[in-house]
Amino acid sequence: MSTPALETTSFDVADVRRDFPILNQQIHGKPLVYFDNAATAQKPIAVLDTLQHYYREYNANVHRGVHTLSEHATAAYEGARDKVASFMNAPSRREIIFVRGTTEAINLVAQSYARPILKPGDEIIVSRMAHHSNIVPWILLRDELDIELRVIPINERGELELEVYEQLFSPRTRLVAVGHVSNALGTVNPVERIVATARKHDVPVLIDGAQRAPHAAIDVQALDCDFYAFSSHKAFGPTGVGALWARENLLETMPPYQGGGEMIKMVSFERVEYNDLPHRFEAGTPNIAGAVGLGAAIDYLNGLGYERIGAWESQLRDYATERLSEIPGLRIIGTAAEKVSVISFVMDGIHPHDLGTIVDHEGIAIRTGHHCAMPIMDYFGVPATARASLAFYNTLEEIDRLVDALTTAREVFA
Ligand code: ALA
Repeated sequence: MSTPALETTSFDVADVRRDFPILNQQIHGKPLVYFDNAATAQKPIAVLDTLQHYYREYNANVHRGVHTLSEHATAAYEGARDKVASFMNAPSRREIIFVRGTTEAINLVAQSYARPILKPGDEIIVSRMAHHSNIVPWILLRDELDIELRVIPINERGELELEVYEQLFSPRTRLVAVGHVSNALGTVNPVERIVATARKHDVPVLIDGAQRAPHAAIDVQALDCDFYAFSSHKAFGPTGVGALWARENLLETMPPYQGGGEMIKMVSFERVEYNDLPHRFEAGTPNIAGAVGLGAAIDYLNGLGYERIGAWESQLRDYATERLSEIPGLRIIGTAAEKVSVISFVMDGIHPHDLGTIVDHEGIAIRTGHHCAMPIMDYFGVPATARASLAFYNTLEEIDRLVDALTTAREVFA
C-alpha cells in the first residue's frame, strides 16, 4: 500500500509538529518517531511557555495570600479549574477535583466513596480490560473489607462482553468501575451503554478516561456517569496533575480523602470544620503550575478541535493497521470495531522487548511490556506486546519507518 497523499485531510500535520519542539531531534542518528503517546504525550510550546511564565512571573501559593502574586496564582489555578469543567462538560466547577492523575482519582473514589459504604459481601464490577490502576485499588478494598469483585470478561477482538456484564449485577452491587479506552488494546468501550445498564440497577459508575482525553471530547453529562477521571500528561499537559469529576451530591456525602491545609475551614483539637467543595478534597499545596499548564493544554486542544484531531488519527490508525498487517508473522492484539490510534502487536520469533530495542536504534519509540494490564496479556496468552500509540502530530511517513524497521527485524531474527 502506498502512502496516501497528505492533502486527503484538512489537518496540517507539518504545521502542528512545529508546536512540539521535542519531535525535532535525532535519536541514534535518525529523526525521532515518537509512538509512545499512550504512556505520555509530548507538550506543545503553549504549555511549555505557560509553565515557564508561571514560574518566572507569578509563582506563589494559592488561596493563602492577600499579596498580588498569590492572587494572580489563585486566579490562574481557579481559571484552570473552569477550563477543566468546561472540557469535561461538568455541570459545576465545584465538582472538579485536581489530583495527581487518574490513579489518584480512582484511589480517591475507592477510599472516600466506596470504602465507607461497603459491607462484607458487597460487590464491585470491574473489567478484565482495565489498567492496573482500575483493578488494584479495588483489590485492596476486597482484601480488607471482604467484598467481591465481579469481572466483565473480554472477547478475542478485545471488546467487553456486554451480555455477560448485564448479568453481573445483584442487589449487592455497589459500583461499576470501567475504562473508557483501553491503554493496551486501543478499544473504545461503549460506556454510554455500560452506564445505562448500571442506571437500571441504581448503581453508580466510575470511568477511567486517561486514554480518552488525548483523542476525543469528554462529556460527563451526556455519559450520565457519576465519576470520571483523566490525567493531564497523556493529554499534552504537564505530568503530576489530573482531574476527577464527581457528582456534587456524591462528593457532599464523601469524607475527605487526605487531611492537611486548604481542606479545612477551622481546626481545634476538639473539632475540625471541613472546607467547601472542591477544596475539601485538595489537601496541601496543589500542583499549581501543573493545573495552569493543563489549562493551556486544554486551550491548545480546543484550538485544534477534536473533530479534526479525530479525523486525522483515524487515518493514522487505519494506515498503521493495514501496513502492520502486511508484515508476515505480525499479529495485532486487539481488533475491536471501535479503536483509537493505539496498536498492540506481537511478532513470531521476536520478543517484544527485543523489538523495542531494535526499533529504538532506528529512532522509533514504542512501548513494550504488559502495559500495566496483565489480565489482558493473560487472556491473549502473551507475556507482553509491542505497542505503537499514535498522536495527532504523527505522520504516515513515520508509520512507514516503523514498518521498515520491523521488516528488517524480522529478516534478521526470524
Ligand atoms: N498507562 C500508561 C501506558 O499505557 C503508562 O503506557
